[in-house]
Amino acid sequence: MRDIENREDIILLVNTFYDDVKADKTIGDIFNKVVAVNWDEHLPKMYDFWEGIILGGGAFKGNPMQAHIALSKQTEMGKGQFDAWQLIWNKTIDTLFEGEKATEAKTRANNITQLMLYKIQTA
Ligand code: HEM
Repeated sequence: MRDIENREDIILLVNTFYDDVKADKTIGDIFNKVVAVNWDEHLPKMYDFWEGIILGGGAFKGNPMQAHIALSKQTEMGKGQFDAWQLIWNKTIDTLFEGEKATEAKTRANNITQLMLYKIQTA
């Protein structure tokens, strides 16, 4: 297996991740029903977000912390939901990639997850 190297890899990672997220019993319906996400808009945004984090570069514009604090007012966004999210993220990466960037993608996501949960709990 190889490492995450370019935008094509990010696109594969993000698409595979959300396929599993949508089918997940704990968090799937947040995307399917609570928000009814417009995937044509959300996916390219997520490609930019993760490309910036994993490979560097600045196309992403948004405010993830604010977006998820707002979401937590609409639906349960606690440790159970974030654990489910992180589990799918780690599993997706481990299925597709291996290496320094792959490890970093898991660590960075974990840091953001912790911070997001903290911000939600203290908002
Ligand atoms: C329980 C966990 C999570 C749930 C249920 C969730 C759900 C969502 C939803 C419904 C949206 C809005 C999509 C739309 O605009 O239609 C969103 C946006 C987003 N999410 Fe999450 N999310 C979770 C965790 C995370 C984590 C851990 C990260 C980062 C590591 C993340 C990154 C983002 C980003 C970057 C956006 C776009 C924000 C913006 O537009 O400014 N999410 N999320």
